[in-house]
Amino acid sequence: MSIETTPGELASLADKRAAGFGLEAPFYTSPEIYEQDLDLIFGQHWIFAVAEAEIPDPGDYVTVDLGPHSVIVVRDDDENVRAFRNVCRHRGSRLLDSGCGSIGNIVCPYHQWTYRVDGSLIFAESQADTFEYGKFGLKPVNVRAVGGLVFLCLADEPPADFDEVSELIEPYLKPYGLASAKIAHQTDIVEEGNWKLVMENNRECHHCDASHPELLTAYFPISRYEAEDVPPRLQQVFERYQEAQAELEKAREVIDFPNGDVCQLEGKATGFQISHLPLDGAGASFGPDGQQLCAKLMGSIEDPRFGDLSLHMQPNSWFHFLGDHAVVFSVIPLAVDRTLVRTTWLVNPEAVEGVDYSVESLTSVWRATNDQDRVLVEGTQRGVTDPGYVPGPYSEVEGEVDAFVTWYVQRIQANA
Ligand code: FES
Ligand SMILES: [Fe+2]
Repeated sequence: MSIETTPGELASLADKRAAGFGLEAPFYTSPEIYEQDLDLIFGQHWIFAVAEAEIPDPGDYVTVDLGPHSVIVVRDDDENVRAFRNVCRHRGSRLLDSGCGSIGNIVCPYHQWTYRVDGSLIFAESQADTFEYGKFGLKPVNVRAVGGLVFLCLADEPPADFDEVSELIEPYLKPYGLASAKIAHQTDIVEEGNWKLVMENNRECHHCDASHPELLTAYFPISRYEAEDVPPRLQQVFERYQEAQAELEKAREVIDFPNGDVCQLEGKATGFQISHLPLDGAGASFGPDGQQLCAKLMGSIEDPRFGDLSLHMQPNSWFHFLGDHAVVFSVIPLAVDRTLVRTTWLVNPEAVEGVDYSVESLTSVWRATNDQDRVLVEGTQRGVTDPGYVPGPYSEVEGEVDAFVTWYVQRIQANA
């Protein structure tokens, strides 16, 4: 198959995708399509960037790199979250190196033009008396904080449905107090696979009972299955799941938590799903047998057995909010066959390491799970690069993978 290059050709290749089947190989292997993904998907949608808790104080910043775009996400002196292009308005130097830190002002390393953390320019040496500082502030990037999660959008006109999605999500997130949580740990891993394979792998648990022994001591691999889809070998697990689900419903009523799941993964620009799932074993956390991992609970949650609030956002994130901690995942493409997966663990701001939790036990399940997923993604990247690859059909329990790919195709068609 020839490699398509223009947006129009990409859209027509997307049109050919057979319903219920995976994508053709070039979507995972073509550098040209990768560039189009950066423009049409990462350049046109709301992208999860950081947890607000990563920038708790004025001057705290994180840089987020999306292809050639670098964005500074910073908390200003009024404690608002701002985002700016990481490009000096003088002669274009990169302002801040990749990473995170804390600054008073943003000072260009080249000729020291100096910007406040609200983006305004306050120093530019040797300019004419007529120089107008107000015309050379940092270029803003659209940014929104939703329930303690920060999203940015590079497009001039971001998808307008984000307001409606924010309103739906915020009541679920509110009890967790994420904006004032504490970062307990963060890891970056690079997976040798296309970013869409990373997302597709996340969108199903069909592989879980063969690949994730640590995760499955707490996580039900069938939590999104219809009863008729549960294979006989998982029937006992399904019965345990139904009992745990009934218990979780009671816990929800106690704190007036929103009832019902919302699934809008495709058909709109800002696709998402939110669902409140019970956990196996002790039902509290991602510890051995579902045991609690942090002694202090999140936000206003009082019952440690509060399950897993699972949020999936297109195109690049997923989240698990538990009674005693939260785990936040962002996916950043690095190359057609390389993807950064950043995992951040958050706990109650009063929780003390070594007293209320240990980083080792808090993070061990997802560190193991991430590495197992990396192996699966890398094996799939090698497979789809083989000339013998042809897309296969999804099973009944891979509906969210189908929804991700359908959303991707729809968004390519809408933006090409
Ligand atoms: S390029 Fe930034 S001060 Fe000159
Ligand atoms: Fe997995």
